[in-house]
Amino acid sequence: MTANNNYAVGFLGTGYYLPEKVLTNADLEKIVETSDEWITERTGIKERRLAEDDVPMSTLAQKAAERALENAGVKAEELDLIIVATLTSDRIIPSTACMLQTRLGATHAAAFDLSAACSGFVYAAMTASQFIKTGVYKKALVVGAETLSKYINWEDRNTCVLFGDGAGAAVLGQVEDGYGILSFDLGSDGSGGDAIQIPSSGSLMPVSKESIDKRLNLIHMDGRETFKFAVKAMGRTVETSLKKIDMPKEQIDWLVPHQANIRIIQSAAKRLSMPMEKVVVNIHKYGNMSAACIPIALAEAAAEKRFKKGDIVALSGFGAGLTWASCIMRWSKED
Ligand code: ACO
Repeated sequence: MTANNNYAVGFLGTGYYLPEKVLTNADLEKIVETSDEWITERTGIKERRLAEDDVPMSTLAQKAAERALENAGVKAEELDLIIVATLTSDRIIPSTACMLQTRLGATHAAAFDLSAACSGFVYAAMTASQFIKTGVYKKALVVGAETLSKYINWEDRNTCVLFGDGAGAAVLGQVEDGYGILSFDLGSDGSGGDAIQIPSSGSLMPVSKESIDKRLNLIHMDGRETFKFAVKAMGRTVETSLKKIDMPKEQIDWLVPHQANIRIIQSAAKRLSMPMEKVVVNIHKYGNMSAACIPIALAEAAAEKRFKKGDIVALSGFGAGLTWASCIMRWSKED
């Protein structure tokens, strides 16, 4: 194995999976004091998907992964690496990536999970891409999957209207020179870590009857602080990625953003001077699925044949941590 090469790396195939159960804003009006009008105006969300109680995150991840492998024309045995980006693994141990490794029959793959919240898929894809770029590995499966519904406080209208469940996946491998990932930017600011958290979920405060009674085992979010951070971070990280390759923002054909709030997406699009027709938006259908948002939006747009070979596609996300991540790629797939 050598590590002195510089292969072009791109997405060979994508896939996504959403649970069938739909929760509409009208359904939420029956659960908390809210309205379809408030949720639509303030977030852009109309409905979201929820996994059934007995369906774990790994089931969604596996279905998305199988679809991405099929779309890429890659067999599971060819995979050298599996990374699952998630906040909602089935268990703390073992990792979901290891569960996928055996279920898919990826007999030669190293496997691990990665935690970077809503930026997780881009973090995972850029991590995998480094192994392929250097020739250490040839093919990697990267998954962003979540069942956030299992961590929602259904009495908290500030958060319960925002989230949904789903999974998206991509197979990465070598592509023609000049195509694939051209640049990326990953960043973090741990000083904002308290803005989005599940207080009782680990060694700091193990889950107990008391923490459950206080709903500390569920998502807590400072929405206004997160909003302020997000409107800056999402456009800025794309600018940083562009700067590294001296590419003007006008060259971007498609922006695939994290889907947390339509107002955050619009503000990033404005900063990048992009008309909304060039921005992939599905927040109205699925809400915020954390690490699953970007790969689902990417896979859905690819399935709709919106990208042409040679298009410049920018992925951009932000999330708990705090984290942010973007990449610029020249789309390498023929349709
Ligand atoms: N229905 C009706 N009213 C509501 C609801 C609701 N569902 N939720 C909040 N309100 C009320 C508030 O109580 C508040 O009332 P008050 O003024 O009497 O206190 C009022 O609406 C305004 O609240 P704001 O928080 O100012 O509302 P805002 O316009 O900021 O929207 C929102 C809130 C949607 C949460 C927004 O701040 C946001 O999108 N923040 C970013 C969230 C995000 O991006 N998270 C991503 C990370 S998630 C992760 O990493 C897992």
